[in-house]
Amino acid sequence: MIYLDHQATTPCHPSVIEAMEPWWRKQWGNPSSRQHRLGLTAAAAISSARERLAGSLGIRAEELIFTSGATEANNLALLGHARARALTDGAPGHLISVASEHHAVLDPLLQLKEEGFRITLLPPQGNGLIEVEQVEEAIQPDTQLLSVMVANNEIGVIQPIPELSAVCDSRGITMHTDAAQAYGHLPLHAEELGCALISLSAHKFNGPKGIGALVVRAGTQLQPLQWGGGQEQGLRAGTLPVPLIMGMAAAAELSMNDLEERQVRLQTLRDQLWQGLKARNPTITLNGALQPRLAHNLNITVPAISGSRLQRALRPQLACSSGSACSRGEPSHVLQSIGRNRFEAESSLRLSLGRDTTTTDIDGAIEVITNAIQTSTKR
Ligand SMILES: Cc1ncc(COP(=O)(O)O)c(C=O)c1O
Repeated sequence: MIYLDHQATTPCHPSVIEAMEPWWRKQWGNPSSRQHRLGLTAAAAISSARERLAGSLGIRAEELIFTSGATEANNLALLGHARARALTDGAPGHLISVASEHHAVLDPLLQLKEEGFRITLLPPQGNGLIEVEQVEEAIQPDTQLLSVMVANNEIGVIQPIPELSAVCDSRGITMHTDAAQAYGHLPLHAEELGCALISLSAHKFNGPKGIGALVVRAGTQLQPLQWGGGQEQGLRAGTLPVPLIMGMAAAAELSMNDLEERQVRLQTLRDQLWQGLKARNPTITLNGALQPRLAHNLNITVPAISGSRLQRALRPQLACSSGSACSRGEPSHVLQSIGRNRFEAESSLRLSLGRDTTTTDIDGAIEVITNAIQTSTKR
């Protein structure tokens, strides 16, 4: 089985599992228990992991709030900030985002709409990118927040976050970015991104599932979504999962250590995959700009073919994702937002590479996909 679905999730790296192990087996204390050594050891470990993760983004340790992943981080950022602003501003305001965001952004925004906020979803350009002018035109006098992801989870395109946050900065608008697909894959620095709120997820960079973080830059208004023991400065109550946090910090270090070299290697493999597929199947088209794009993402449409037949033909040999498999069985809203129709969205494939992907995998994938296209077309 060739695995080209790393944007869905990555395998937890052996060195990450090793880094977590003592925190499952021996050091299982609660970091909030300050009266004994087990608790104090766990608290010291959390503090060191927080420092290391914060260091990787150039922020202060207290600006990092651990969550269960990027879904929770996005919910905390969007609901938490909008509700806090509604209290200080006296009324729910206006929020801007993009139609091609992940559901973990779109659905909290739908919830906020129910609560009286006005939402503008910008349509991306045909290449998947948002232009600064689109944001400038959408801003209203009571716009409170702009949320735009760094890199798209389906088509991999990289949005111009520093330019967008500069517009927000000049207009007093808070900027949130979902960096779930970018952290660990692109060099990210909070100051350069210019965002007050940044969401992260460990399982997208060879860390464990069930852990992530929200960066909350100093001075950003935020209400918690849950209440309890007051952990994470009262913004995210609940006992901290020490092993997962240690795993996230180890995975971040692993990713930072070979980031540039891995990007170059994966981009070469990705380009090989695209060129190989195109040479054997001239009718396929690329979804999203080839640049700026994550080095490990490719998204193609195979015209005039049934998406479900194609998937069935691929399944025994290749793990990848399709428009139809992506979102609750619905054709991809991301592909439709860049102009693909429902049928084209269904006959599309997202192929995402990872740190263990080899040339043999790429050659194999070209063969398997080409054969699947041929058999699906014949029938
Ligand atoms: C862009 C983006 N945001 C959010 C999420 C959700 O992350 P998590 O699985 O950590 O909740 C994902 C993962 O699918 C994603 O790709």
